Amino acid sequence: MSNIEQTLSIIKPDAVERNLQEEIKNEFNKNGFRIAKEKKIHISKDEAEQFYKVHQSKPFYNDLCEYLSSGPIVVMALEKENAVLDNRKLMGATNPKDADEGTLRKKYGISIDKNSVHGSDSVENANIEIDFFFKG
Ligand code: CDP
Ligand code: MG
Repeated sequence: MSNIEQTLSIIKPDAVERNLQEEIKNEFNKNGFRIAKEKKIHISKDEAEQFYKVHQSKPFYNDLCEYLSSGPIVVMALEKENAVLDNRKLMGATNPKDADEGTLRKKYGISIDKNSVHGSDSVENANIEIDFFFKG
C-alpha cells in the first residue's frame, strides 16, 4: 500500500545567504522527493513566532524567531512515500555536531541555531505547517 505524504521543508536564512538552495533542492530530488510547492519569502518576526509557537516556553524561542525572520527563506511542500520521517532522516540531528555523515545538517549546518533546514516532525504538524505557508 502506498503512503504518499507531504512534509514542510524550510531552507533557513543561513543556507539561503550562502546560496545553497539549488544544492539542497538537488539533494531532495536525488532522495526521491518531489517539490510540490515552493516559494521564497521573507517572514516577519510575528509570523515566525506563530510558526514556532510550540517552542514559546523554550529559552531559545526569541532568538529562534529573530533568526527565522532575519533574511529570505525557501519554503517547500516535499512529497514522497513516508515524506515526514524520510525528510527527518535526510536532515539529521538538530545540532549539526551530532548529525550523521551525509545528512543535510552535517553537510551544511553551522550551529544548533543555524542548522540550515527545517522539517515537520509528524504528519499532523506537516499539514498544519503546509497550510501555514500555502493556504489561501
Ligand atoms: O528543527 P528540529 O525539529 O530538529 O528541532 P526543534 O527541537 O524542533 O527546534 C527548532 C529549532 O530551534 C531548531 O532547528 C534549532 O534551529 C533551534 N534550536 C536552538 O536554537 N537551540 C536549541 N537548544 C534547540 C533548538
Ligand atoms: Mg521541530
